[in-house]
Amino acid sequence: MALLGFGNILLLLLLFGNSLGAPGSFSVDYKKDCFRKDGEEFRFISGSIHYSRIPRVYWKDRLLKMYMAGLNAIQTYIPWNYHEESPGQYSFSGERDMEYFLQLAQDIGLMVILRPGPYICGEWDMGGLPAWLLNKKDIVLRSSDPDYIAAVDKWMGKLLPMIKPYLYQNGGPIITVQVENEYGSYFACDYNYMRHLTKLFRSHLGEEVVLFTTDGAGLKFLKCGSIQGVYATVDFGPGNVTAAFNAQRHAEPHGPLVNSEYYTGWLDHWGSPHFFVSSAAVAKSLNEMLAMGANVNMYMFIGGTNFGYWNGANSPYGPQPTSYDYDAPLSEAGDLTKKYFAIRDVIKMYRKMPEGPIPPTTPKYGYGTVGLKRLQTISDALEILSFSGPVKSIYPQTFIELNQAFGYVLYRTKLPVNCNTPTPLSSPLNGIHDRAYVSVDGVAVGIIERNKALTVNVTGKGGSQVDILVENMGRINYGRDINDFKGLVSNLTLGKDTLTGWTMYSLSIDEAVSQGLLGETKPTVPSPPAALSLPTFYEGSFIIPDGIPDLPQDTYIKLPKWGKGQVWINGFNLGRYWPSRGPQVTLYVPASILSNAVPNNVTVLELEDAPCGPGPCSVEFTDTPILNGPVQSDFKQQRRLFSKDDLL
Ligand SMILES: *[C@@H]1O[C@H](CO)[C@@H](O)[C@H](O)[C@H]1NC(C)=O
Ligand SMILES: *[C@@H]1O[C@H](CO)[C@@H](O)[C@H](O)[C@H]1NC(C)=O
Ligand SMILES: *[C@@H]1O[C@H](CO)[C@@H](O)[C@H](O)[C@H]1NC(C)=O
Ligand SMILES: *[C@@H]1O[C@H](CO)[C@@H](O)[C@H](O)[C@H]1NC(C)=O
Repeated sequence: MALLGFGNILLLLLLFGNSLGAPGSFSVDYKKDCFRKDGEEFRFISGSIHYSRIPRVYWKDRLLKMYMAGLNAIQTYIPWNYHEESPGQYSFSGERDMEYFLQLAQDIGLMVILRPGPYICGEWDMGGLPAWLLNKKDIVLRSSDPDYIAAVDKWMGKLLPMIKPYLYQNGGPIITVQVENEYGSYFACDYNYMRHLTKLFRSHLGEEVVLFTTDGAGLKFLKCGSIQGVYATVDFGPGNVTAAFNAQRHAEPHGPLVNSEYYTGWLDHWGSPHFFVSSAAVAKSLNEMLAMGANVNMYMFIGGTNFGYWNGANSPYGPQPTSYDYDAPLSEAGDLTKKYFAIRDVIKMYRKMPEGPIPPTTPKYGYGTVGLKRLQTISDALEILSFSGPVKSIYPQTFIELNQAFGYVLYRTKLPVNCNTPTPLSSPLNGIHDRAYVSVDGVAVGIIERNKALTVNVTGKGGSQVDILVENMGRINYGRDINDFKGLVSNLTLGKDTLTGWTMYSLSIDEAVSQGLLGETKPTVPSPPAALSLPTFYEGSFIIPDGIPDLPQDTYIKLPKWGKGQVWINGFNLGRYWPSRGPQVTLYVPASILSNAVPNNVTVLELEDAPCGPGPCSVEFTDTPILNGPVQSDFKQQRRLFSKDDLL
């Protein structure tokens, strides 16, 4: 009978093409202060990898490199807004095939620590929460607010049943599942919400699964973050390991020591220097934790890339750049670094290392300079870019009211009066979220930026057309300001008057770029060189050279002397560039979006000014990334290190 049963399972596995293993057990042992897997003492040495930040074709390579570093587990987030971009429209295929990712991890021999949110932070737009939750203006996110709970219940009702077969108990790789994320750092401190989530997770996943929470290694975080029946873990970077684990022991006097986010590096912001954290410091504290028998997840093991519009921001408003390299042991492009080998050398002392070669760093290629020609400006191309047509209202509406989540919206109105002398056009309530490119009668006049520059001077006759292109630079992902509405979120004034009579164009730029709809610019009288131009598209193409083996390879695009904007290759949105603000200078271009067969098309939306002059403009493809270029701002973000004050 048993044999027959086993045969049937095998047959089923073959039929359904997945290779989940035999059911097992995984639990917390409070007597021996450890995890138990199939009855045996188990300790994870894990690394964070976010499938949403790595092209699918590279998932296997990155996971294999993690396995070869001696890891026996990985940790990943599930970003809700990535899988449900509009209510009830779920997307789990292609690049978003989370199940395939879990399956790959298992096939390679890695356990999975899953962090399904609903909130994930992660320097990801709005901490993974879908912006459409803001349809209810005063929603209290991450709380018992009934509208929030209803959306969470529905999402988890879709997601968790998909996860269930991948639990270790059911033959899958998932050993533990996190509830919420660093909830103790959030102001709401709503125990009913955490209890509700716990019940919800248990109702879908069963009573056996090990649920856990993660909070900063300090009592003030654990106070609101931990909840009875869910195992409390902590996160902290290199430093005093003993002191940090003492904090966990306050919440969990017994059970395994767990650092769920051991920081191998740190995140960047536009306008502040790139972070480096020394390999020696990372290796030292890792060694100390492993010597104590602790479980460690390294955050990040590979950071990857915020393609498209997915980066988040911190408060006071400071958006994160496109690269999420994190100074992690595997670079943004999956390259083996000195830190990788330093970590591997530590792990070697505690675990038998897997046999076989480490997958090599993938080669990069510099395709050289590519000339770009000027296409239409945003204002010229409105018909093409605004599929849904304009919306009119007296006062400005936000992105959400216009049913747009990401990217750019053009707000148009008229000067109500003659402005013969420079007259301030202002956002007195700091309501431009996040950056606006202002023009009057087709002439660029200035930039308004959230928290930084709230006024531009304009001149012009009454009735002149005012175009204000507003860029959403990424929603705040941490803290009490995560209800981050975009667009014009308060009225603009001209002198003492409130501007009214708006026509607003939601722009579907990605669709227009990928369908090749943008046309060339209509010939204009050459204008004198200005510091600022209208937001304008540029386009060019390049061919992968013949006769060089193994092309196309990964590359980096560099836009020397360009201002700020967005870049696509073959319709794939690589993300934002802003070399004038820094520190990121090059953008990662995975080979998977390049073609050998036909010319590769580069499209750039330059928001400020392209370095073209009378001649052609160009971009460069280089084989070397630059993430630590000069910065031009005073924005400072404190690196979160463990401090003794956290224990008070
Ligand atoms: C680390 O913290 C522990 C516990 O608070 C303390 O006893 C020890 O002196 C600290 N070590 C260092 C090097 O500061
Ligand atoms: C606007 O013009 C006034 C008067 O010329 C000047 O004092 C002010 O600095 C200008 N403001 C900006 C933001 O340029
Ligand atoms: C603009 O001002 C009007 C009149 O005071 C007000 O009703 C409206 O709510 C304001 N709009 C925004 C977006 O602040
Ligand atoms: C680039 O654009 C050309 C012209 O529209 C098109 O024929 C070609 O297929 C595009 N290349 C790729 C890789 O999509």
